[in-house]
Amino acid sequence: MREKTKLAGVIGWPISHSLSPALHNFWLKQHGIDGVYLPVAIKPEEFSRAVAALGEAGFAGVNVTVPHKEAAFAISDLRDERAEAAGAVNLLLFRNGRIEGRNTDADGLAASLKQSLGADFLRGALGVVLGAGGAARAAVLSLDSLGAREIRIVNRTPQKAAALASALQAKVRAKLFAQGLGDWNQAANGARLLVNATSAGMKNSPPLELSLDALPLDAAVCDIVYNPLETDLLKRARARAHRTVDGLGMLMHQAVPAFEGFYGVTPRVTAELRAALEKALA
Ligand code: ATR
Repeated sequence: MREKTKLAGVIGWPISHSLSPALHNFWLKQHGIDGVYLPVAIKPEEFSRAVAALGEAGFAGVNVTVPHKEAAFAISDLRDERAEAAGAVNLLLFRNGRIEGRNTDADGLAASLKQSLGADFLRGALGVVLGAGGAARAAVLSLDSLGAREIRIVNRTPQKAAALASALQAKVRAKLFAQGLGDWNQAANGARLLVNATSAGMKNSPPLELSLDALPLDAAVCDIVYNPLETDLLKRARARAHRTVDGLGMLMHQAVPAFEGFYGVTPRVTAELRAALEKALA
């Protein structure tokens, strides 16, 4: 490392599971950039102090992951429209003595869906989002940006789905509806796309208990969980011949503007990158 080596990283707690270092270091090597990208484990109570220290140490910026995305929103001096809509920040850039907060999750998911399903797959159609946390919020914004006519938010705790729908309705063009998991059959009726934005199905969590019988066979199924890459939901969707999109696509695409912001080069999402990340996951 030299003085001009460009520094960036990802802050989370814990952080050892993060694939972001493998991802950014793949691009750094590919582009021959004199830069490093580090995993930084920071406890919640130390977040703002750590961010200030990284800025002073000359970092260009950092990605932000669980559990710091709301705290990153709060300490940003300025925020982009996506961050404002999400109420959360996954990218901090240190520029001209100020902290710029952005959120690239929704656009990352939209880019992944476009690449896998085509740009007009959801236009004028009906999308279903499972979950009502931060990931579901990004998924709703994403489906809206793809031109969905209607988005049904289905959550185990229906009150949270209702709260999310009313918080987002003024920010999106799609008509939002909130339902509980008990209404799943009705919610699935006519759907063109199902996105799992719950944490169910993640490694060491129970799988999502949801029958796909009610889902039209021409609907696509996307899981934003990427560890494991083939979740039980995707496996069952594939067995029914649905088109499927795994969570690695969103991870790769949300990182593009981050890399651009840190290192000044626009990287590409390629089959080689996917293969490298699949290897890192395994
Ligand atoms: P994030 O911000 O990453 O989205 P979160 O805010 O903890 O995480 O939200 C997790 C989501 O997964 C919630 O919608 C949760 O449902 P509840 O609101 O009912 O808790 C959902 N979830 C987690 N485990 C689930 C399971 N086994 N079945 C169904 N939904 C589940």
